[in-house]
Amino acid sequence: MEVIELKHPLILHKLTILRDKKTGTKEFRELVSELSSFLCYEALKDAELKEVEIETPMTKMKSYKLDEDKYAFMPILRAGTGMLDGLIKIVPNAKIGHIGLYRNEETLEPVRYFYKAPSHLENRETIVLDPMLATGGSAADAITLLKQSGAKKIKFLCIIAAPEGIKRLQEVHPDVKIYCTAIDEKLNDIGYIVPGLGDAGDRIFGTK
Ligand code: PRP
Ligand code: URA
Repeated sequence: MEVIELKHPLILHKLTILRDKKTGTKEFRELVSELSSFLCYEALKDAELKEVEIETPMTKMKSYKLDEDKYAFMPILRAGTGMLDGLIKIVPNAKIGHIGLYRNEETLEPVRYFYKAPSHLENRETIVLDPMLATGGSAADAITLLKQSGAKKIKFLCIIAAPEGIKRLQEVHPDVKIYCTAIDEKLNDIGYIVPGLGDAGDRIFGTK
């Protein structure tokens, strides 16, 4: 399954500010949200529409509508919630679930602590959100949980992906399309993306 890296001058510009260690919490949050809206726009390029008849002030016409209920947005806690706002601005009636995972700092493997998904995932398109795809362990485990709940059509949206994370996610879930705004160089020896942006959760929530 392919990886879509969004390439656009506006995205490069916003990523520059996002990555900068001098950028504070408020601006960081706003940028994560904006970049997430761009990712949503791209991920919904193949969205199915239904034809409806409306009346403009001038005339009747046939037009198109998205069945917003068909979408389930699933942020991975914590940092994925920072992306949610950017998606629900665009698809406000999507269903929302939460997947609680954190990385064990020594093994870098995900530890599960919460899971709540909308009903009937088998009939929805499920979009998983996490700003960082590092080793890929968290994304792969989140998607495994979603498939156990019946999800069939799944996309993964992130701000920055490491080649190691892309490889792992493609090996474990080859059917899941990955959307990102940048593919970075590598992981360092403690599993952080380089050049990256540091710890996404801490920067979104100001916890360090
Ligand atoms: C970060 C990030 C991802 C994960 C990525 O979360 O938001 O969920 O690490 O790493 P991986 O691809 O190697 O699994 P973290 O575990 O730091 O939890 P937090 O969001 O609660 O800070
Ligand atoms: N999680 C983060 O928040 N940042 C990284 O670089 C890797 C994992």
